[in-house]
Amino acid sequence: MADRKATLTVDGLDKTIELPVYSGSLGPDVVDVRGLGAEGLFTYDPGFMATSSCQSAITYIDGGKGVLLHRGYPIDQLAKESNFVELCYLLLFGELPNDEQYADFESRVSNHTMVHDQINNFFKGFRRDAHPMSILCGVVGGLAAFYHDHMDINVEEDRIISAIRLIAKMPTIAAMSYKYNVGQPFNYPRNDLNYAENFLYMMFSTPCEEYKINPVYAKAMDRIFMLHADHEQNASTSTVRLAGSTGANPFACISAGIAALWGPAHGGANEAVLKMLDEIGDDSEENIQRFIDKAKDKDDPFKLMGFGHRVYRNFDPRAKVMKETCDEVLAELGIDDPQLKIAKRLEQIALEDEYFVERKLYPNVDFYSGIILKAMGIPTNMFTVIFAVSRTIGWISHWHEMLSDSYKIGRPRQLYTGHDQRDYPAK
Ligand code: SDX
Repeated sequence: MADRKATLTVDGLDKTIELPVYSGSLGPDVVDVRGLGAEGLFTYDPGFMATSSCQSAITYIDGGKGVLLHRGYPIDQLAKESNFVELCYLLLFGELPNDEQYADFESRVSNHTMVHDQINNFFKGFRRDAHPMSILCGVVGGLAAFYHDHMDINVEEDRIISAIRLIAKMPTIAAMSYKYNVGQPFNYPRNDLNYAENFLYMMFSTPCEEYKINPVYAKAMDRIFMLHADHEQNASTSTVRLAGSTGANPFACISAGIAALWGPAHGGANEAVLKMLDEIGDDSEENIQRFIDKAKDKDDPFKLMGFGHRVYRNFDPRAKVMKETCDEVLAELGIDDPQLKIAKRLEQIALEDEYFVERKLYPNVDFYSGIILKAMGIPTNMFTVIFAVSRTIGWISHWHEMLSDSYKIGRPRQLYTGHDQRDYPAK
């Protein structure tokens, strides 16, 4: 793979070091620095700004051009032409399914949507007002107790059944977290509904009356699931890969991914966007400008939530589709949401402001998603839960890809800045 070399010279080191350079199918070349350890050197890259942690064929992002490909297919085409279950198949197996493969996969997912009845008892340990992400973290990790002894991560079929169990059960557990919060009885999943319909049914159906699926909501929900499905080596996916590299079972790894996603700098941003729009209050120029100024103020920790991205230095292609979906859903529902007006005005002002322009800060996937979810009656504390339901396919596909190839336990080093060795003081 390496036919090119990088040559490194280090002051004080009386030799040059040659390092292999590899090219992928798309994107930047990489310098293989693994040989530096033998030379008594480490690389230093806090936050992994320029570090590729692995090889992967699942998702490609071109941050400069605002391109996102899943197994080569552009996200905007998938979001408009495909559906979430088909995208799950594509991400996990690498190719689009034919009709028979799709039917079989969809049926396998449907037949694993129920959780063991004992899982219901997990919820009783939480306060009713527990954040549903805390419940999700705990209950998904607890799934390991039911499957740990019945799977071998080194057997491909065991990995696939674990992936299907997770894809299938995440919406059920997510909806249970919501029902527990609102004090309503849990709903069993229904195999006659598709993935998005089933999630909405489990969320909003009550024993008192028949729940009618709103096709606008179901289509928007499926598209939101698709737009959040995978995103290369983001923080939570890297967490899942690191946990998986120790041989931990997939349920524990996904629970670790959920924990990492929860942060407001990552998947928690969608909830934070709605809180920010609430705080802004109205789309008056002075109110919006006040928040823009806060975001620019180095002494103020406030950041414009839903803006900026480690990789995208252009529009996040998912944000574009999300914005279109937002307009469609609100128009179909006849909702004139003042927060959408604030969001659009905020985006317009920010994109004309030198601070954001020179830093190439654009709306990301989280900027508009919350407005759609709110329009569907989903509470803000469920937004990141929905992100986690969707991202589970990304996490587990990366986990499966890593375990399908040779891999080593992830174990970074450091630049040590502590004390030299010193003796314990004599008493
Ligand atoms: C997701 O990685 C992924 O792929 C994530 C994700 C996925 O699908 O998995 O896409 C999902 O997490 C989307 C991002 C959601 N987070 C937010 O919307 C929170 C707000 N955004 C920021 O916190 C920030 O933009 C990050 C965390 C997303 C990215 O941070 P980086 O890459 O570390 O960028 P940075 O902080 O170095 O920013 C560069 C400059 C800094 O200013 P200077 O020091 O150069 O003066 O831009 C500024 C930052 O202060 N900046 C912002 C800003 N984002 C960056 N200033 C104000 N508001 C912002 N939102």
